Amino acid sequence: MKSKASAPGKVILFGEHFVVYGIKSILCAINKRITVTAEKIDEEKICIKSEMYDVVLEPNKSISEIDFKLRPFYYLSNKIIQNQNTGIKIEIESEIPLGVGLGSSSACCVASAAAILGLFSETSKERVLELAIEAEKTIFQNTSGADCTVCTYGGIMEYDKKNKFKKIESEPNFHLVIANSNIKHSTELVVAGVKRFGEENRDEFSKLCNNESKLIEDALKFLKENNIKGLGEIVIQNQKYLETIGVSNDKLREMIQVGQKFSFGAKITGAGGGGCIFALTDESNLKQTIKEFKDKNYECFSVKIDFRGLILF
Ligand code: PMV
Repeated sequence: MKSKASAPGKVILFGEHFVVYGIKSILCAINKRITVTAEKIDEEKICIKSEMYDVVLEPNKSISEIDFKLRPFYYLSNKIIQNQNTGIKIEIESEIPLGVGLGSSSACCVASAAAILGLFSETSKERVLELAIEAEKTIFQNTSGADCTVCTYGGIMEYDKKNKFKKIESEPNFHLVIANSNIKHSTELVVAGVKRFGEENRDEFSKLCNNESKLIEDALKFLKENNIKGLGEIVIQNQKYLETIGVSNDKLREMIQVGQKFSFGAKITGAGGGGCIFALTDESNLKQTIKEFKDKNYECFSVKIDFRGLILF
């Protein structure tokens, strides 16, 4: 018997970094997915296969002995097969570029938890999410859980540290053109840089946090009204704040300029320092925006909001 599940990636639309200081952020799931197929095997082993890996591991090892990138898969497999007298084979297929802030690891955790649980019993999204967050903590101890939540439920979501998640019920009709800088970044290092900026520029940073908070309220209003042009203004403003706190660089600025030529606005998504930017478009400027990136030799693709979240096949 096989059990199969898929989960979407995500982008942070607004509020990255400021969310660390208690400001609201807005995330959405995107229609690029990770699919995981799980299967019981006779031999009591954990087999993990993806484009990058094809490994056979012994169960019940300490997680610290496991290759970093395999930890969530190993953690979930090992936990769920405890006392089941079985081995497990999982296979991962991804449409999401890895490690560039598009939620590939969260989508892996959510789809794996669902596929593996599905081999043994009926499950719920709540249970899948709980296990997925535990699994994500094996690679990012301080995860807020926001990414796994949006990958599980899909759609758009507000998140802040105090009040946690709130689903936004509107269904705005935009396309995001995502361009990848192909610069690897460490979220932890970029977050530490912002902390330093905040400590060295207390008044300015506090003003920026207030401004970001106001901007998020406007964004929520425009999302509800499906006002894509209005949202574009917010995208541009949010990028200015990200520039000020020092998470941009020449390559990202260049890409944002390209993205901004025909779209309503472009900004970094996620930690910055590298990773991806997005340009906000609708049917009227989607093609031109993609063409502009491609003409300038940037790797890009377009996504829409995914409203389905986790799917169990
Ligand atoms: O690069 P990502 O998608 O993992 O985003 C990091 C988001 C930050 O706000 C910079 C950090 C955080 O923990 O919220």
